[in-house]
Amino acid sequence: KKAKIIIDKYFLTGGVDQRIFGSFIEHLGRAVYGGIYQEGNVNSDEQGFRKDTLELVKELNVPIVRYPGGNFVSGFCWEDSVGPKEQRPARTELAWQVIETNQFGLNEFADWSRLTGSDIMMAVNLGTRGPADAKNLLEYCNFEGGTYYSDLRKAHGYVKPHDIKVWCLGNEMDGKWQMGHKTAEEYGRIASETARLMKWLDPSIETVACGSSGMMMPTFGEWEYQVLNECYDEVDYLSLHQYYGNRSNDTSDFLACSKGMDDFISGVISLCDAVKAKKHGKKEINLSFDEWNVWYHSNEQDKQIKPWNKAPHQLEDVYNFEDALLVGSMLITLLRHADRVKIACMAQLVNVIAPIMTSDTGAWRQTIFYPYMHASVYGKGTVLLTQIKAPVYESRTYGTVSILDSVCIWDQESETLTIFAVNKDLEEDVEVVCDLRQFEGYQVKDHLVLTHDDMKAVNTEAAPDTVKPTSSRASRLENGNFSTVFGRHSWNVVRLE
Ligand code: AHR
Repeated sequence: KKAKIIIDKYFLTGGVDQRIFGSFIEHLGRAVYGGIYQEGNVNSDEQGFRKDTLELVKELNVPIVRYPGGNFVSGFCWEDSVGPKEQRPARTELAWQVIETNQFGLNEFADWSRLTGSDIMMAVNLGTRGPADAKNLLEYCNFEGGTYYSDLRKAHGYVKPHDIKVWCLGNEMDGKWQMGHKTAEEYGRIASETARLMKWLDPSIETVACGSSGMMMPTFGEWEYQVLNECYDEVDYLSLHQYYGNRSNDTSDFLACSKGMDDFISGVISLCDAVKAKKHGKKEINLSFDEWNVWYHSNEQDKQIKPWNKAPHQLEDVYNFEDALLVGSMLITLLRHADRVKIACMAQLVNVIAPIMTSDTGAWRQTIFYPYMHASVYGKGTVLLTQIKAPVYESRTYGTVSILDSVCIWDQESETLTIFAVNKDLEEDVEVVCDLRQFEGYQVKDHLVLTHDDMKAVNTEAAPDTVKPTSSRASRLENGNFSTVFGRHSWNVVRLE
């Protein structure tokens, strides 16, 4: 098959905000306990942080991590999670039906984030709590000193404020599964009041209002419009959440899910802009796609989990090769919307639907680790408006879909052009050409490929390198004409300098 990528260095989509390569740590399953923190483990440091996990998180180059939930946040009493560990209460945690010991909390997460080099995206509880608690938490985190909550932080050993800049106003408040879930109007009001208080205290913060918990929610559309109608002036971002799965084992249809994601993003942009127009608004509401991934492998086994355990194996999807391809396509989709998607969080980071898995004896990279790492390490610069002329196929769920997903990013500073591409064709390679005469003097630096004959191949602790990237020599640049081959079912990163 043959395809063409068309770019022009003057036709730009927008700068990449590195925060679109963010991730998520929730108090859920073994994400915290046994994932990033495990006191007494041979791989842990003196604070109990797993060093092997830390190394892999650093490799992923994660710029921002959302915390502490998720559904968990809607029952979270942040005061339980700070201060001397022996005085912290164990609590019943209703979202995931477990016991939360609070042995790891807000300040430990701030320490851990410092070590990984990532910022914190903090969520406040707007399910079972409200504006005053959110304001108190912000005062604890960001206020210099001389007040009750800022002095409490100091008394807990944290003299300097954590200075957290991005704040989520609750989580998935449209979902019946959420503690304290609300109608759009109820939520919009409380989000508006909470953000007002918080910004009065610290005008430097940004706030994220909850959009729908998925595009298929019955209230999708209405929810976004009504919520923003209430809190437009007080918020900076609207959130999107979406997970996909290959439940009917139809790989072509599964790989078409990125088209669903693209439609979702375009729809939410239209809704934000509709409210802007109605309000004669000056500012633009941008998007925070703060939960996205594949999630379905663990659904059945999770039904067997008995309630009121501590840190059970929960949501531990073992990702296969085809999942990595879809994750690659989802990253391309986020990048293609770089003008409006400013934050995105792969959900999640460790053990729970995650690129990194741990056991008591080690940590390893799941298949989805690689496209995520490539995007966050190489996806720097300005996204070029990338036109694709490629063969298409008919998918069961998403209609006509291109076999080729691709985006080009130009880093003018380092004079690097990066092409990310997924060939979704399960049978045939695709020969691709691109006119690069505007990029005089550039040469092909490398071409990384992730592929495997078995779409269901996985990485395990015993065989951690079953699916891993290799180098290709298929890319050429001669007299400004770029040509390459993207092998059947493959993720590709071509870098030119
Ligand atoms: O990421 C797992 C869960 O998915 C989160 O807690 C929730 O926000 C979503 O439904």
